[in-house]
Amino acid sequence: MNMEHTCADHFDPDEINRRLLSFLDRSPVSFYAVRNMAEELENAGAVRLFEGDRWKLLPGRTYYVTRNDSSLIAFRIPGDTSGDAADPAGLCPGFQIVASHCDSPAFKIKSNAEITTEKKYVTLNAEKYGGMLCEPWFDRPLSVAGRIMVRTDKGVETRLVCIDRDLMIIPHLAIHMNREVNNGYKINVQKDMLPLFAEIPHAGETGASDGGCGLFLSLIASEAGVRPEDILDTDLFLYNRTKGTVLGLNGEFIASGRLDDLQCAYASLQGFLAAAPSDSISVHCVYDNEEVGSGTKQGAASTFLSDVLHRINLALGGDEEDYRRRIQTSFLVSADNAHALHPNYTEKTDPTNRPFINGGIVIKYSANQKYTTDAVSGALFREICRRAGVPCQTFHNRSDQAGGSTLGNISVSQVAVNSVDIGLAQLAMHSAYETAGALDTAYLAEALKVFYSLSVEARGDGDYRLC
Ligand code: CO
Repeated sequence: MNMEHTCADHFDPDEINRRLLSFLDRSPVSFYAVRNMAEELENAGAVRLFEGDRWKLLPGRTYYVTRNDSSLIAFRIPGDTSGDAADPAGLCPGFQIVASHCDSPAFKIKSNAEITTEKKYVTLNAEKYGGMLCEPWFDRPLSVAGRIMVRTDKGVETRLVCIDRDLMIIPHLAIHMNREVNNGYKINVQKDMLPLFAEIPHAGETGASDGGCGLFLSLIASEAGVRPEDILDTDLFLYNRTKGTVLGLNGEFIASGRLDDLQCAYASLQGFLAAAPSDSISVHCVYDNEEVGSGTKQGAASTFLSDVLHRINLALGGDEEDYRRRIQTSFLVSADNAHALHPNYTEKTDPTNRPFINGGIVIKYSANQKYTTDAVSGALFREICRRAGVPCQTFHNRSDQAGGSTLGNISVSQVAVNSVDIGLAQLAMHSAYETAGALDTAYLAEALKVFYSLSVEARGDGDYRLC
């Protein structure tokens, strides 16, 4: 498809979607999303930092840091790589931040997961991570990915594991055994959602009745190249094996698992990497655990962002006074996907704010401030979209619907800056396979490139310059 802007500097929708779908395919869980973003940052010259080291930051350089291997913050220090002072006049430039999330609802494998049935089948015990639509997880190839902790000579180390083949399935009960199922069925996660993993090779000979056969742990160990007895603990999740695709008469739509919120996270990374040098400090922030309330050490409610911003300020020679001045002139874009109008359920959308797939960036509003957008941040973001040549649209929940929440107001409780909540319009949010627009990834990358290329400077209280 063609965008109206043909300038070579603009993101090409087909190209960015091709790379997005590859990224989604390689990022079945947050740990892999972070690893893949880190690799792309390093390929672009970014330097990895660790929170336990002393930081020395140079002007013009890009850095990134991870926490728990599942949240990532990248940032660029203003100035010339040949210069030695990023801020010679002591102007205290602010932070231009985009925050998104890299986790998605999924089923997490429990401890002692194997359940043997009639000495024949092995299913795995699993529980919900986040609030998903359960139905789409039935009757499709699944596999498992995550991290394991392995005993070594020196202690314990992390290994990422992804079984890259069709491995499991959660089979529906046949309609003949529940004739009423199409009239509405209440899903019991403990009973209905356990994936079928294996058939016991020689039934009756393993001696296993309730404790399992160790088949699952053996598979994970062999994939990781370790002994099963050296695996001390695991964070493993089911993932949908169906690859992302482009569809619609003219390729108008994209569909994949985990578009919420890797579509925004990926567009943020592309905008960050493509941005022109700016006087402010560009920050690309991707949190884990948004789907379970953000209250972890690496989530949006944690000190991760505020710790990193404090340390950037310190490394640039700033004191606490300078940090406060930087925060006052900073801006946060909280980027998390939004609900498009659904053609089969038009009545579910607000009567006057009706976002469409491919309609551009959705700015989200809520009078109760579940979304952080207010007149100031909405106006500034609209102006950024106008400068980027990107359309935008608005979302409000119907007044009789509670709606969802996101990471913006949680993050702002730790780092209090002007903030706007935005996202890309999509259908079937929190399904195992979601649908979004083929034009919209490029729109967001373009708008965020422009955002990262300029500074939102606050003067006094209420006057803002886009420089
Ligand atoms: Co989300």
